[in-house]
Amino acid sequence: MKKADIADDWFLWYTSLWTTDWCTKEKSCIFAASNQQNCVMKKSFIYGVAVEGDNFTDREKETKRLKQDFENGQNVILISPRRMGKTSLVRRVQSLVDKKTLSVVYIDAYDCRNEYEFYNKFAAALMKQTAGKAEAVMKNIKEFLVRLSPKVGFSPDPSSEVSLSLGITPKEYSPEEILQLPQRMAEKMGKHIVVCIDEFQQIGEFQDSLNVQKKMRGIWQLQTNASYCLFGSKKHLLSNLFQNKRMPFYQFGDILFLQPISTEDWKPFIRGKFEEKNISISDDLIEKICATVQNQSSYVQQLASNVMLNATDVVTEQTLELAVEDLLNQNSLLFLQQLDGLTAYQMNFLKALANGTNANFGSKTVLNLYDLGSKSNVSKIKSVLTQKELIESSPAGIVFADPVFQLWFTKEWCK
Ligand SMILES: Nc1ncnc2c1ncn2[C@@H]1O[C@H](COP(=O)(O)OP(=O)(O)OP(=O)(O)O)[C@@H](O)[C@H]1O
Ligand SMILES: [Mg+2]
Repeated sequence: MKKADIADDWFLWYTSLWTTDWCTKEKSCIFAASNQQNCVMKKSFIYGVAVEGDNFTDREKETKRLKQDFENGQNVILISPRRMGKTSLVRRVQSLVDKKTLSVVYIDAYDCRNEYEFYNKFAAALMKQTAGKAEAVMKNIKEFLVRLSPKVGFSPDPSSEVSLSLGITPKEYSPEEILQLPQRMAEKMGKHIVVCIDEFQQIGEFQDSLNVQKKMRGIWQLQTNASYCLFGSKKHLLSNLFQNKRMPFYQFGDILFLQPISTEDWKPFIRGKFEEKNISISDDLIEKICATVQNQSSYVQQLASNVMLNATDVVTEQTLELAVEDLLNQNSLLFLQQLDGLTAYQMNFLKALANGTNANFGSKTVLNLYDLGSKSNVSKIKSVLTQKELIESSPAGIVFADPVFQLWFTKEWCK
């Protein structure tokens, strides 16, 4: 029996749902999002998952720019702190492009531990997301991955997705052949393909990562019918991948730093949600919600949600205070874990930061005041805390990476 026939067998088998490693975060995230969004009638504010429709606000400029990049075949790199809205934005643009001429494929690399796990996810996403119906997925596989016998699963629910496990190994396909897929498929389909890779910094963790990156860049940069949107939130890792002259992905595309949504743009969104519940909230208090969490998108929605839960007819200063307390409690376990294993010097550095020191940590005064050890010790502390994503560099100097962690740390450790 030929491999293609085996594939056909799988196709006709119509067995129960296959669980493959494909449907991990990506899928559960989509389900969580759609589940939450299906219950939008009850839930006014959504946080922690990618948002769409009524739960997505503003980002007009960024949406326009990214859409243009996709349409022009421009490679783009999207960077922002955690939970600022990268995935939501990319999915938004994905929903807006003209599907007749452009196919946007979304891949989340967060759980890829090595090169071939990535290629499997990459190829599976291309096979599925350029197809739609199960028959078309199989047609894609037969046409573009003839040497494979994939495992395909179908759910009895026609609206749910096909699960697909390709099982690509170096024996059947070389990295080059897999990386060429977007171009080959785009040519055949007479469309442009944009491949969006979320949590791209994961590639930097692979064994022999530099060579993998060289292969990727070498092939992708020559493709005329496919382009790439690479994004993630680990700023220090991404900056190293894309802004370091010695790295293969240096100047691979336009870099877009996703900024926080402005308070002015949050105002109508938040006010509207409160009005739907017949609760009145002043502009002043909306401004305070945004300022408390430094406009970090997910926290704005979480805090607004807490405010709504604490409010009756009118939101007061006291409602907001209770809501902030709830926010700190909701996150405190996670924050405590983040402090696990920190040395006394590292804790002292965070205390200095919480007390408003953002620069000159190596000066005698700061070293002595906060007991940070020697000047060279300060560089080590900075490096560890950056790796742990507790702090980051900004134009204002060193700052906490997470505004709510900052509030919590200041309250708990700087009494
Ligand atoms: N345009 C938006 N309008 C309203 N809320 C948003 C918007 N973008 C993001 N959010 C809020 O931020 C949360 C996180 O969004 P999203 O998952 O898109 O961010 P991300 O940057 O991809 O996060 P991560 O760093 O975890 O990958 C959402 O659940 C939502 O609460
Ligand atoms: Mg994301």
